[in-house]
Amino acid sequence: MAKRDSFGSGFGVLVAMAGSAVGLGNLWRFPYLVGTNGGAAFIIIYLAFVLLLALPIMYSEFIIGRRSQANVFGAYRVLAPGTKWCNTGYIYVLGSLAIISFYCVVGGWTMAYLWKAVTFEFSVADTAVLGDTFNRTVTSNTEPLVFMLIFLFVTSIIVMAGIKEGIERYTKVMMPLLFVIVVVVAARSLTLPDASAGLDFLFRPDFSKVTSKTLLDALGQAFFSLSIGCGTIMTYGSYVNKRENIVGLSAQTAITDTLFAIIAGLAIMPAVFSFGISPAEGPGLVFVTLPFIFAQIPFGAFLAILFFFMLFIAAITSSISQLEVIVSYLKEEFSMSRKVAITSSLVVIVTFGVLCSLSQGTLSDVKILGYNFFDFFDKTSANILLPLGGFFAVIFVGWKMKKQDVEDELTSGGLHKLRPAFLNFIYYSIKYLAPVVVAIVLISGLV
Ligand code: PFF
Repeated sequence: MAKRDSFGSGFGVLVAMAGSAVGLGNLWRFPYLVGTNGGAAFIIIYLAFVLLLALPIMYSEFIIGRRSQANVFGAYRVLAPGTKWCNTGYIYVLGSLAIISFYCVVGGWTMAYLWKAVTFEFSVADTAVLGDTFNRTVTSNTEPLVFMLIFLFVTSIIVMAGIKEGIERYTKVMMPLLFVIVVVVAARSLTLPDASAGLDFLFRPDFSKVTSKTLLDALGQAFFSLSIGCGTIMTYGSYVNKRENIVGLSAQTAITDTLFAIIAGLAIMPAVFSFGISPAEGPGLVFVTLPFIFAQIPFGAFLAILFFFMLFIAAITSSISQLEVIVSYLKEEFSMSRKVAITSSLVVIVTFGVLCSLSQGTLSDVKILGYNFFDFFDKTSANILLPLGGFFAVIFVGWKMKKQDVEDELTSGGLHKLRPAFLNFIYYSIKYLAPVVVAIVLISGLV
């Protein structure tokens, strides 16, 4: 049998994991959630969820992947042979499929907007005109579909090249670039007049705005933003060698992801306040509000290009991780070549993607359980499949695996020493804390 592909270095693993985590969730979703949920109070709750809940789940997925060196389905055949645990693999494949189906649509919008920025379409500083542009763009029957296809094509080219020569090689270049761009945009935003009002909003908590919806939003965001619950960490983990430090890499991924979200907030909120716009604009924040601002500030046209290029890179480094979950499953479980696995995945993804895209316009009246296609894929993945995937990962590691094996993975066979108290804290968070909280959230989300 041919040798299984793997990452070439610890840094390669980190940029790939951070690349998966940092995406539209940080640059597009996080700012508007902060905006609609009372600013800093939301950030504090979000951070607590990342530490107490998301990290144990991330460790668990990483452990399952690395120990088995197999895809999300095959992993359980290795770790729990003869049991029905394999079937949980379907949750991850379906979760990734549901996410990429609408993610590629928004990925297409970022490309459409990059194109508009390059062709200087944002010179009019009028929110009505820009709102209309956004509406026309997303409801069109052609433009978003063409860009969605290009977005998926780029995603496939990278995944086609494999782990080391594709995913690792490209994310190694794209992630540092992304960091530089987001810092440049934030620096410009912070030097606008009255930028401090935006800082105040981001960093002064107003707990009176916190409701149960805030908690749910914060938790869903923690799952989505860290790419947990849909098998990406499990799949990437399966390409990681036994010497790498699972605890360290997971913590660094979470820190990088949070850092990007905060810097994205710094890039957006000061500008929003400087122009007296409501931070609670919702999903249109980056596609309407920001072009409005870019149209009025010095170097705005250049910044618009940088900004939408940044969104595009962030989206691509995430979509490749979603596709890899499905591809590694098809490749290993059905003995397909990478090419055939990608092509077969694309047939389904493009079909769902087209439905999601058209649901913004022509198909907006077609509803499943009261949601249009786009919202249906978004809601079923964020509210059901990701928490369910996270739940089963912690239950498996906490209750099915031997404590000794778990500790062996967490310390990479004793290579990376951890204090016994810290090791126990991680283990019991995986065993008790994470499953209980996820179960509560899952049930309340369903109700
Ligand atoms: N974490 C990505 C983001 O914040 O945009 C989204 C994501 C990527 C979710 C990969 C799930 C996933 F498997």
